[in-house]
Amino acid sequence: MSETKKYKIAVIPGDGIGGEVVEQGLRVLNHLAENSNGKFSFENDFYPWGCEYYLKTGKMMDDDGVEKLRDYDAIYFGAVGFPGVPDHVSLWGLRLAICQGFDQWANIRPVEFLPGVPRRLNHPDVDSLNWILVRENSEGEYSGIGGRNFSGRGPGKEVAVQSALFTEHGCERIIRFAFDLARTRKRKKVTSVTKSNAQQYGMVLWDEVFARVSKEYPDVETDQWLVDAMAAQFVLKPEELEVVVASNLFADILSDLGSALAGSLGLAASANLNPEKRTPSMFESVHGSAPDIAGQGISNPIGAIGSAALMLDHLGLTEEAELVNEAIKMTTSQGYLTRDIGGTCNTEEITDAIIGNLSKVKTGV
Ligand code: NAI
Ligand code: MG
Repeated sequence: MSETKKYKIAVIPGDGIGGEVVEQGLRVLNHLAENSNGKFSFENDFYPWGCEYYLKTGKMMDDDGVEKLRDYDAIYFGAVGFPGVPDHVSLWGLRLAICQGFDQWANIRPVEFLPGVPRRLNHPDVDSLNWILVRENSEGEYSGIGGRNFSGRGPGKEVAVQSALFTEHGCERIIRFAFDLARTRKRKKVTSVTKSNAQQYGMVLWDEVFARVSKEYPDVETDQWLVDAMAAQFVLKPEELEVVVASNLFADILSDLGSALAGSLGLAASANLNPEKRTPSMFESVHGSAPDIAGQGISNPIGAIGSAALMLDHLGLTEEAELVNEAIKMTTSQGYLTRDIGGTCNTEEITDAIIGNLSKVKTGV
């Protein structure tokens, strides 16, 4: 028998429900490994970084945190942010530090309508809808360039500058990524979202790169929208969406809209990729740490489990990724739902059902 492939995973549960949902994803991953007949195993190292760590040490992560993570095959992340620590401190100190530190420049966020989940979208073909948001994840509005000054002028006189950075290189690689992804889909189509009427420098550059790159993909349909109109399009004509590529901020907002339309923020999965695989990629649900429901055991683990499936896919365990996604679908269709989508199940019960269904989809496939 061939040797067991061991994957080294860095686990960062983070804050609030981050730890709860990551625990569920790990249960699914470990179950798969234990039942893989020696094909693969996971070695998980836990890092206690987050707001509690900050309150103890004054740091969101160790100074050499990014270096500590460098040799892992992947990072599995919960969520960051908790009352008591300013959100910009927690986000920049951990999640954005990792995304930028590892140049995880492509953030993919599928929007899927799971069977059995009450519909928030009144659309005749809702069951057949699904699209992928491709978010530029390294620059744009989240470049962290700017500053505050002039507080010395007295109360009410301070200024802040927050610059958005658009590089031709950054635009090109994410747009190209979107086109390559579109080629793997049934309908080959890329929709580009900007606000280039008002943002006449960075986003016009984006549009020009989009036009140039699209010429190399004559087999892929294209479409371009301003972000405000795109928000309406998400609700009114979602059947037109296939691969949607947008800047860091715009895709962040649109992905919450997409997951809410699909039922709940708790359902949405995401992957922060360094597509060249120079550095480890990071997998996390779209939602935040949800302090309002933390510690109650009622959070929806599907976003985190779906993110684990994206991680399996990235590691080359394509069949296992598919199994997890099918088991999630079977679970919601059986009526196992958490409260955010109108059910009564708790976090663990959903995972129990998904794990139980893994063997059923295996034999059914
Ligand atoms: P949030 O996503 O944490 O919560 C928004 C709403 O959705 C809440 O009512 C919450 O209960 C609900 N929700 C989210 N995930 C859920 C789940 N799995 N199951 C059931 N309900 C769920 O966003 P919010 O409230 O704006 O931010 C809370 C904290 O999270 C802040 O500190 C923020 O900075 C941080 N945050 C972190 C992110 C990350 O680590 N990637 C992303 C977004 C926010
Ligand atoms: Mg967000």
